[in-house]
Amino acid sequence: MPEYCVTGGTGFIAAYLVKALLEQGHTVRTTVRDPENVEKVGYLLELEGAHDRLKLMKANLMEEGSFDQAIDGVDGVFHTASPVVVPQDNNIQANLPLN
Ligand SMILES: NC(=O)c1ccc[n+]([C@@H]2O[C@H](COP(=O)([O-])OP(=O)(O)OC[C@H]3O[C@@H](n4cnc5c(N)ncnc54)[C@H](OP(=O)(O)O)[C@@H]3O)[C@@H](O)[C@H]2O)c1
Repeated sequence: MPEYCVTGGTGFIAAYLVKALLEQGHTVRTTVRDPENVEKVGYLLELEGAHDRLKLMKANLMEEGSFDQAIDGVDGVFHTASPVVVPQDNNIQANLPLN
C-alpha cells in the first residue's frame, strides 16, 4: 500500500486528505510546525487508523531542508502547507492612504 506525505496537516484541505488516505488504508506522514501542540494536532491522532498509520513530523516552510525527512521515500506528496506572509502595519490609522 503506498505511503503518502501531506504537508500542513492541521490545515483545512490537509485534514480531509489525511482522513481520506487513512480510511483507504494508506500510511500517512503529515507535517506540522509544532507536533507537541495537542490543541492543534490532537484531532488528527484520533482519526481512524491514525494510531498505527499516521506519523506527525515537524517541518516549517521557512526552514531550508525542513521537509526532507518527511518526503523521503514516500510514494506521493500532497503539498497544502501554506504560510501567510503579510506585511504588518501597527499604525494603519496614520498610514492608510485616503486618496
Ligand atoms: N481552502 C480552500 O477552499 C482553498 C481553495 C483553493 C486553494 N487553496 C489553497 O490550498 C492551500 C491550503 O489551503 P487550506 O485552506 O487548507 O489552508 P489552511 O487551513 O490555512 O492550512 C494551511 C496550513 O499550512 C500550515 N503552515 C502555515 N505556515 C507554515 C509554514 N511556515 N511552514 C509549514 N506549514 C505552515 C499551517 O499548519 P501549522 O500551523 O500547524 O503549521 C496550516 O494548517 C493554500 O495554499 C490555499 O491557498 C485553498
